[in-house]
Amino acid sequence: MSDRSKTGGFDPSGIDEEAWTELERQLEATIPVYDRVNRIMTLGFDKGMRKHVRNHAQKGMKVLEVGCGPGSFAVGIEGMDLTCLDPSAEMLKVCRKRVDKVREERGESPAQYVEAIAEEIPLPDDTFDRVFCLFSFRDFKDKKQGLSEIFRVLKPGGQLVICDAGKANWLHGLFGRLYMGTFVQWVARIVTKDPNHPWKWLARTYTHYGTHSYYKGIMKEVGYEQVKARLLFPGMSSRFKASKPE
Ligand SMILES: C[S@@+](CC[C@H](N)C(=O)[O-])C[C@H]1O[C@@H](n2cnc3c(N)ncnc32)[C@H](O)[C@@H]1O
Repeated sequence: MSDRSKTGGFDPSGIDEEAWTELERQLEATIPVYDRVNRIMTLGFDKGMRKHVRNHAQKGMKVLEVGCGPGSFAVGIEGMDLTCLDPSAEMLKVCRKRVDKVREERGESPAQYVEAIAEEIPLPDDTFDRVFCLFSFRDFKDKKQGLSEIFRVLKPGGQLVICDAGKANWLHGLFGRLYMGTFVQWVARIVTKDPNHPWKWLARTYTHYGTHSYYKGIMKEVGYEQVKARLLFPGMSSRFKASKPE
């Protein structure tokens, strides 16, 4: 881990406590317009990205979403035993209302909701067939610790699928920083009508996010196998897959 003082508490390995606490406050402020801004800033690709990730699970599986936020991904998990984890009580409240309403309409039992961070998951070992992290991995305080905890709760043979900023290499990072620093800021400002909108903070997590090879290296150190990364859209999103050995 490098010295994060020069970057306001951020680096690719994680986020300092103080910066993370402010980031959480800013993330909660996005709730009322979260889906709308995402839709516009991804030019509608967010729906397809979430579907692509969701297709890694099959009906009947036991699934955990880490960093579920307001439920934008979890709401589409159909026919599975679902647990949603997030450190924000506010996010979980919105997620529960939205997800359980849809699950009830589909005749499914409610999901389980856990208020916790990825780095300390209060759930037993070897529990889940799939763990998903969509646009939350870059918010982890300690990426390696979060990946280790996810590894612990995955069943042997289970798979982690992460979708987050699209940085196959630093060139994509540069492209993404331009996109995050201009177009996304412009969209957020128009939609929120607030010059100090929370997407300013989200741009920081993007700026200090690492490349494919950086996170693939950590996943292998933790013990994952079949570690793969694929760029879904340069700058915007990448998908990692990694399995816990049988
Ligand atoms: C941008 S939202 C992502 C929401 C959702 N997954 C989606 O598909 O859009 C990021 C979420 O990650 C959560 N988060 C932040 N730090 C976390 C951590 N250390 N462990 C787990 N979740 C975290 C935040 O509270 C927030 O709800």
